[in-house]
Amino acid sequence: MTYPDMLDYSSSGGYAPLRRAVADYLRVFRSVPLDVDQVIITSGTQQSLELCAQMLADHGDTVWLEDPAYWGAVKAFMATGLHLHPVPVDQHGMAPSAADEAAPPRVIYTTPSHQYPTGAVMSLQRRQQLLALAATHNAWVLEDDYDSEFRFSGPPLSSLAGLDRDERVLYLGSFSKVLYPGLKLGYLVVPKRLVGAFKQAHYDLNRPGQMPLQAALAEFIELGHFASALRRARQSYAQRRQALLEALTPCLIDAKAQITGAEQGLHLCLRLPNGVDDRALADTLAQQGILVRPLSAYCLQRTDSRGLIIGYGYATLEDIQRYGPEMAKMVCAELRKFPV
Ligand SMILES: Cc1ncc(COP(=O)(O)O)c(C=O)c1O
Repeated sequence: MTYPDMLDYSSSGGYAPLRRAVADYLRVFRSVPLDVDQVIITSGTQQSLELCAQMLADHGDTVWLEDPAYWGAVKAFMATGLHLHPVPVDQHGMAPSAADEAAPPRVIYTTPSHQYPTGAVMSLQRRQQLLALAATHNAWVLEDDYDSEFRFSGPPLSSLAGLDRDERVLYLGSFSKVLYPGLKLGYLVVPKRLVGAFKQAHYDLNRPGQMPLQAALAEFIELGHFASALRRARQSYAQRRQALLEALTPCLIDAKAQITGAEQGLHLCLRLPNGVDDRALADTLAQQGILVRPLSAYCLQRTDSRGLIIGYGYATLEDIQRYGPEMAKMVCAELRKFPV
């Protein structure tokens, strides 16, 4: 690519060496069989979601999404005029039932590696069922794999895209967690039959660019700096996660609360009894400078999910050691109001 081309909009799906680096990574670590041509660099998952919603469905078509759900996906689908059909999540991930099939999907959006926000990991059986259901309804599947780089325990997970045999899974990745959100770079892997249409639409709708930034990131990866940054980040997050788990231990006595989703990612979910007003509890914690999110705020339809979503991406180890026990004390005080 010549110097003036670097300054122009990108019509090719992004800077080729970056697309190559992403493809190499996904082949090895996520078992996604793909050609470089299928990788489109976007300004992050949000843009990938918007593009998918615009390209794969018409106004009023039904999208199945997890309940509780990632707010970014909710906003993207609402803005595109799709009909949102919430599908409950259990401990094995998104769990569609016969009742859901009465609202056949055009698109299914899911976060199988680490359901956002509950942290549930989708079982292999559930992954296969979901792909079979998608085939029955001729639906597209959007796999948002936003934090699979950070897996602290449990066996490695295969991606849905790696299991897909009939080219209906679109894989969405982001550098927001693995590097930082302000970088605003992510990627979308589309089935071969969609490559031309998606690249054209990305160019027409988004006028993609940032080629010097993409080139810098490609070089960062090629020179091995990304791998060492990832190693350091994994170590640092593992320490923070451990400190958080230790701080929360007192909340687990009597089994009134449970931790879910701690084996992966940069957040966990502290599940609380159904009677807890998790929004009020989050507000009280915020007054002490402890920022967590109430699980019920992510629910679309269900009323049986209470808890706190606690992230450790932004908090330092010292913050967690200092504020973690204080948070646990306040949660325990709330739990004492409920019978064992
Ligand atoms: C479920 C989920 N998907 C994707 C992302 C990353 O989004 P983006 O690449 O738009 O920053 C996040 C970030 O918080 C997330 O929670």
